[in-house]
Amino acid sequence: MSDSVEKRHRRIRSFVLREGRMTPSQQRAMDELWPQFGLDPNQALDLEATFGRQAPATLEIGFGNGDSLAQMALAEPERDFIGIEVHGPGVGHLLLAIEKHQLTNVRVYRHDAVEVLERCIEDAGLDRLQLYFPDPWHKKRHHKRRIVQTPFADLVAQKLAPQGHWHIATDWQDYAEHCLEILEPHSQFKNTASQPPFIERPEWRPLTKFEQRGQRLGHGVWDLLYQRCAT
Ligand SMILES: C[S@@+](CC[C@H](N)C(=O)[O-])C[C@H]1O[C@@H](n2cnc3c(N)ncnc32)[C@H](O)[C@@H]1O
Repeated sequence: MSDSVEKRHRRIRSFVLREGRMTPSQQRAMDELWPQFGLDPNQALDLEATFGRQAPATLEIGFGNGDSLAQMALAEPERDFIGIEVHGPGVGHLLLAIEKHQLTNVRVYRHDAVEVLERCIEDAGLDRLQLYFPDPWHKKRHHKRRIVQTPFADLVAQKLAPQGHWHIATDWQDYAEHCLEILEPHSQFKNTASQPPFIERPEWRPLTKFEQRGQRLGHGVWDLLYQRCAT
């Protein structure tokens, strides 16, 4: 395929990779802990073999520095957690948290989440999918980069077990409204809010790093919790 043809066929990604430098401890974590906790995006994921048990699986897309994911994994040892992030220093940071808290219920992908979902995750294999503070892509001409789109929602529906949950949080009202436009008419998802469309932040979702920065800037937060239909 020529360069220009390849460019035209290249998928629009929800991220731009700006590889910050890893700290020496993050680099050590990558060297020493990745072989144990890192997952291969080119292979189907066997959850039972990976975690050595049968447990409900939570997958988090774009975990940032992973502090809130590590807190959740510590608070819910009966669940297994799969984190996906493209930003290397964030992956190193999460590995350090896994080591510090001796977590056995977390594994990590350093790859595009859309490709991981497509290639690695079994249909109906997930109990919960978390998308906290996805890149907002503020400008209208960039809205096509937002990860929440109808084909992505179809993919999430395919990977969630019947009655599994998709939890989204954003501090950008326009993104929250964009999610409603995609998900309210989607035949596979039901909004679970008692006073729709938004829910209060559940106490099991710790504040994320990005959210704390937003709070300092006076941003609001919108939480959406959808359930996959039973069939
Ligand atoms: C705005 S940050 C929020 C990080 C974190 N959830 C928080 O709240 O602190 C969005 C993150 O999603 C990651 N990201 C965006 N698209 C992604 C994709 N397709 N696959 C994996 N990670 C992605 C980015 O690298 C970035 O770290």
